[in-house]
Amino acid sequence: MKNRDMTKRPIGFMDSGVGGISVLKEAVRVLPAEDFVYFGDSANAPYGTKTPAEIRELTFKAVEKLMDHDIKALVVACNTATSSAIRDLRLKYSDMPIIGIEPAVKPAVVCGRGGRIIVMATPMTIRQRKFRELVNTYESEAEIVPLACEGLMEFVEDPSKTKEELMAYLDENLGPVLTDDTESIVLGCTHYPFIADEIREYLGDRPVMLIDGSKGTSSQLKQRLADSGLLRDDQEQGQITMLNSSNDPEMMELSWRLFNEI
Ligand code: DGL
Repeated sequence: MKNRDMTKRPIGFMDSGVGGISVLKEAVRVLPAEDFVYFGDSANAPYGTKTPAEIRELTFKAVEKLMDHDIKALVVACNTATSSAIRDLRLKYSDMPIIGIEPAVKPAVVCGRGGRIIVMATPMTIRQRKFRELVNTYESEAEIVPLACEGLMEFVEDPSKTKEELMAYLDENLGPVLTDDTESIVLGCTHYPFIADEIREYLGDRPVMLIDGSKGTSSQLKQRLADSGLLRDDQEQGQITMLNSSNDPEMMELSWRLFNEI
């Protein structure tokens, strides 16, 4: 058991922008007594169209900001950053629990009946070896169709984008890969749960499940904290600190709006 002060330190969350707030919300639900510090790198978003080296550098800078807050554990709440940087992060911060997120292909396969699973993610997540290995593991059990969604996270980050434009994007990009035997869509980017309602509206009556990785990541976080003796056992509700690399005050407003949504 680590000393008590250690358990009182906050948990750090990072993402390329506001997307990781979809994971943060679930983590707060599962771990209500914990303090959290969230860092969104909106000034440098999107990550999903950058090179792995650029993503690694930005991810390390974001994590350094969280280190200033003396965090006890780190959640890389970004599929793109996880696929490019998690191995190096674990080498550098080898004493700290580090939890990443990957497209929830496994739950989709487990819940499915062998039909089509569409994985929506950033171009970089889909190009990475980590994702190819994930597909190789499950492709004998289901038809897994990766869909690189360049420009989709912008519908969450950028308030000037309209719903009409989003529906047109879905029609152009998701429409061609939707088949009658499509069982589920994996939201393989942490921004996409914030446009899940629009995706559902686009799907209409089709019996397609939307699956994201926030639950799996949050329960893994809880388990890792418990295993390391780092779980906080207070009764009071913990605090949330929201940080963003963008100077635009609207970004902070958007962050809290997304956090309080639903
Ligand atoms: N939210 C990030 C993810 O889960 C990606 C968005 C971006 O392209 O920056 O992959």
